[in-house]
Amino acid sequence: MKIIVTKNYEMMSKEAAKLIAAQVIRKPDAVLGLATGSTPMGMYKELVHLYDEEFLDFSKVKTFNLDEYAGLSGDHQQSFCFFMHRYFFDHINIDRQNIHLIPGVSEDPEKAKKNYLEQIEASGGIDMQILGIGLDGHIGFNEPACEFSKGMVTTDLDESTINANARFFSLKEEVPGQAYTLGIQTIMMAEQIVLMASGRAKAEIMKEALFGPIRPQIPASALQLHKHVTVIVDEDAGKLL
Ligand code: F6R
Repeated sequence: MKIIVTKNYEMMSKEAAKLIAAQVIRKPDAVLGLATGSTPMGMYKELVHLYDEEFLDFSKVKTFNLDEYAGLSGDHQQSFCFFMHRYFFDHINIDRQNIHLIPGVSEDPEKAKKNYLEQIEASGGIDMQILGIGLDGHIGFNEPACEFSKGMVTTDLDESTINANARFFSLKEEVPGQAYTLGIQTIMMAEQIVLMASGRAKAEIMKEALFGPIRPQIPASALQLHKHVTVIVDEDAGKLL
């Protein structure tokens, strides 16, 4: 595991964007696993900037998002689908057919989950997975559990996650109680993983996840077992590392 501590959020975002840029230059048809939330927003901004400067070509890149709120359709402003288009996809030359997002609403969620996993497999697997981390140690929406999740799962969001994400909704009651997420097993199958964190509030959980015991109660601790993880934190989130 490689740990990069940057001065601030902006530098963390630039470092993460550099890793993605290198991946896309090395392999123009790279398969990227993407996350949403506050943490990667600056990284997407930087990638759009690199694209505008004509350093990057996303025309062959494929993407798979990690998770989605159950019950929110893609046009809901707080859906991860909406987020991805707003902050990234609408600003780059990605082929729309290469964008894969988990449907928050579907007639048959079980079938949708199966299809999604099959599409990842058919793409040859994820080359680089971007992750943020929740205050309770979740990655994707894999909340603390009794075992590391497999395949793709429907999770009940923990109270702390609902509280943390309420900032994006007008009322806390509007935050969906469930989400669909790639399980820990699928995340661990990515060739490379980039875990990002910023802010003092993430310092304790980063220490616990990276140096504490490996256990499903701290889902991110599974990353200690992955052969190619780069952790990028700002000074605040890296304070206890
Ligand atoms: C979202 C995701 C989540 C977030 C985590 C941190 O796609 O996978 O695990 O990374 O909840 O969220 P922020 O970045 O908003 O602190």
